[in-house]
Amino acid sequence: MVTLKYQERFKTVKGVFDAFTNRNLFELQSRGHFDELVSPLKIGKEANVFLASSGKRYVIVKIYRIQNSDFSGMYNYIKQDPRYESLKKRRREIIFAWVQREYKNLHRSFEKGVKVPKPLALKHNVLIEELIGDEISGEVALPLKDSAPQDVEEFFELLIEQLRLMYHAAGLVHGDLSAFNILNLKMDEGDKPILIDFSQCTLVKSRASLELLKRDVKNLLQYFKKQGLKLDAEEVVARIVKK
Ligand SMILES: Nc1ncnc2c1ncn2[C@@H]1O[C@H](COP(=O)(O)OP(=O)(O)OP(=O)(O)O)[C@@H](O)[C@H]1O
Ligand SMILES: [Mg+2]
Repeated sequence: MVTLKYQERFKTVKGVFDAFTNRNLFELQSRGHFDELVSPLKIGKEANVFLASSGKRYVIVKIYRIQNSDFSGMYNYIKQDPRYESLKKRRREIIFAWVQREYKNLHRSFEKGVKVPKPLALKHNVLIEELIGDEISGEVALPLKDSAPQDVEEFFELLIEQLRLMYHAAGLVHGDLSAFNILNLKMDEGDKPILIDFSQCTLVKSRASLELLKRDVKNLLQYFKKQGLKLDAEEVVARIVKK
């Protein structure tokens, strides 16, 4: 197996962007939303996430692939969202709607005070958001699965607070909650949970929302039980939902 060095791998990744994606990146650059892609953080199932420089800071650039992404899966999911009922089953439109929905969900949550990365810009399949971590040095906060909290109980309580705020104030259920999509931001006052990856959020008022919330809680408890907390899924769901 050929293992490429970090920089080489990055060049490869950057080199395979299609012309359309390159144009979108270029436009976002020209509008001053970022200067350069610096390094890949994750090559995911649907998207590639990059650290990018922007003046004296760093931001996150999430690029959804137009080809080889599971747009059928996206379509089945997004058409349940009342905001996207009339969407046609066309690859590009679905991917754009998907990215736009992530942007909107982040925006809506951010406005209501949920701790999420601030969404900064959007162009078709490219989303730019605030870096969680140290935006001056570019050091990123790690996902919970790689960075266990110092005080697990306190962290869990802060997380429930965030999920309640998301549910009641923003009217959203995350839909893909796990130790991968919660970042552990280390601050002087202690560790803080930041929620990311909002492409699968569902409106609380939509049909599937309770099922999704239950699934989210189940995934969450898998992690926190391993960390030694004694928790009951139904009670946790009730805590989030109750007014
Ligand atoms: N705003 C951010 N600040 C710091 N790190 C981030 C940020 N957004 C993403 N990351 C890092 O990149 C990884 C992947 O991001 P994200 O979860 O949004 O994409 P994904 O799981 O590939 O997306 P999808 O599930 O939509 O295909 C995260 O686990 C995290 O480590
Ligand atoms: Mg993710």
